[in-house]
Amino acid sequence: MFEAKTIASDDKASLYGELTQQLGGLLSDERDAVANAANTAALLFTSLPDLNWAGFYFLRSAKELVLGPFQGKPACVRITVGRGVCGAAVERRQSMLVDDVHAYADHIVCDAASRSELVVPLIRDDRVLGVIDLDSPLLARFDLDDQRGIEAVAAIYVRASADL
Ligand code: SME
Repeated sequence: MFEAKTIASDDKASLYGELTQQLGGLLSDERDAVANAANTAALLFTSLPDLNWAGFYFLRSAKELVLGPFQGKPACVRITVGRGVCGAAVERRQSMLVDDVHAYADHIVCDAASRSELVVPLIRDDRVLGVIDLDSPLLARFDLDDQRGIEAVAAIYVRASADL
């Protein structure tokens, strides 16, 4: 049985070092895309401070993301590619770091408490599979260290998991 250790670190390099090591262990014996997404969302939500939402959206057709496993309040189910922060990350095939979601014109509100957001695409061999989305009730909660850390998390998830 996997046991998530509390990650007590102010230093983001060691925090993400420990987090990615735990995730590697957590996903090592499993290929199921949904089970691995559920455990990844739970690990992120319980290990990272000041989050109100952590989860996945999967690209289920060329034009649409559909809600996957997550932790936090119930969220919007379908997001058109190109819309919202999540849809923009898919269209641009790059991570989106939004310090203040109120200042991002096309932000899609799921939880009114969210003030900043980090979205990282899941990419396998040039194909976008979906995104990991993190929301925080704090302004500018995420920085480039978080972005690099969650990009490492996304790479571990994609490597460990079969296609949905
Ligand atoms: N805010 C996101 C929508 C998803 S929720 O935050 C969970 C967006 O603008 O794409």
